Amino acid sequence: MTQDLYRLIYLSRNTIPGSNENIHQEIEQILAVSRQRNAASQITGALMFNRECFAQVLEGAHDDIQATFERIQCDPRHADVVVLDFKPVEARRFSHWSMGYIGYDTLASKEFTQIQQATGFDAKQFSGERIYDLLHAHLYAAEKAGSGLGKIA
Ligand SMILES: Cc1cc2nc3c(=O)[nH]c(=O)nc-3n(C[C@H](O)[C@H](O)[C@H](O)COP(=O)(O)O)c2cc1C
Repeated sequence: MTQDLYRLIYLSRNTIPGSNENIHQEIEQILAVSRQRNAASQITGALMFNRECFAQVLEGAHDDIQATFERIQCDPRHADVVVLDFKPVEARRFSHWSMGYIGYDTLASKEFTQIQQATGFDAKQFSGERIYDLLHAHLYAAEKAGSGLGKIA
């Protein structure tokens, strides 16, 4: 049987207006909906935010990712969505998370900003692999430190 497991990685620009408090509330809502809907579609992944931009990894069956990503792309809370990677993979690396989250005051998000600066904010020069590894390493570190954010119950 052909394995139907894909991963998609994209970058986008935050368009949520207002104060940090407002942005924080919107992201809480995005995460709540994502965790519910992704769990129902057996999608796993992670979202990273650094005030300016989002980076997200989605893992799951091809058609489930496509349907989810079509909704995400139409969301007015972000713009300039650039897909870095959409390809078949052997295994999930975010199997613990319906949608793990790395916020803007974290080391990972600062590294994300540094990568953006080094590439002159040119999304085409971004390596999906690098974003993937960054999210993965930091979520596992957060889990070890006792944060269960985004875990499937
Ligand atoms: C940066 C970002 C990431 C998102 N990630 C997901 C996700 O992983 N899964 C999901 O179902 N919705 C995600 N959403 C929310 C969708 O855009 C959409 O609001 C939600 O799926 C509900 O869609 P509906 O109102 O058409 O039912 C995300 C939105 C943003 C702005």
